[in-house]
Amino acid sequence: MPAEGAKQRTERPATARVFFALWPPPDVAQQLSAVANSFANSAGGRATRQETIHLTLAFIGDVPLERLPDLQRTAREVRAEAFDLTLDQFGLWHHNRVFWAGCSVVPPPLFELARALSGALQAAGFDFADARRNFTPHVTLVRKVKVLGAPLPPGQTLPWRCTKFVLVRSQLSASGASYQTLAEFSLSGRS
Ligand code: 2AM
Repeated sequence: MPAEGAKQRTERPATARVFFALWPPPDVAQQLSAVANSFANSAGGRATRQETIHLTLAFIGDVPLERLPDLQRTAREVRAEAFDLTLDQFGLWHHNRVFWAGCSVVPPPLFELARALSGALQAAGFDFADARRNFTPHVTLVRKVKVLGAPLPPGQTLPWRCTKFVLVRSQLSASGASYQTLAEFSLSGRS
């Protein structure tokens, strides 16, 4: 009879929980983190830590470790342009109690990147939840907001030049998610 550990290894393949995202430059992350902490102070909830602030392009979920090279190869073949994003609004979704930052005008290349990535992933056999939903670009700043009627902070103008996207592994623990960047993918030229 195999040892317990060996039995688990044969029944449950090792997986990684992964997603593709845009990561803000440090100054943007710092300003977003200040807004997140201040909003969480007044409205309750858990502010995203500065180093984990991001904009998700595609959440993949659990992938067997042996498929990670294929996932990276697929993303590397995506051709998309670099672009400028301006975060200029804050919002609060009541249905999931998420306070977020977003842009009043979504640059077309951001939609094109999300569409190209999603199409390539599906063609390569990665079936992920986001593929069936509309892409709503946002940066989650506070989760589990308690006071849904809390006043939103005034919009700021936070310019963010997007020249690459990243594949990130998420590991969940009681103190929140910790992220590890597995790979970076360049966006081409000037938009
Ligand atoms: P969110 O910011 O709107 O919560 C890592 O978990 C990232 O993937 C989060 O930014 C999260 O978006 C996004 N995501 C999308 N779908 C998800 C899902 N089904 N489970 C967990 N995270 C998801």
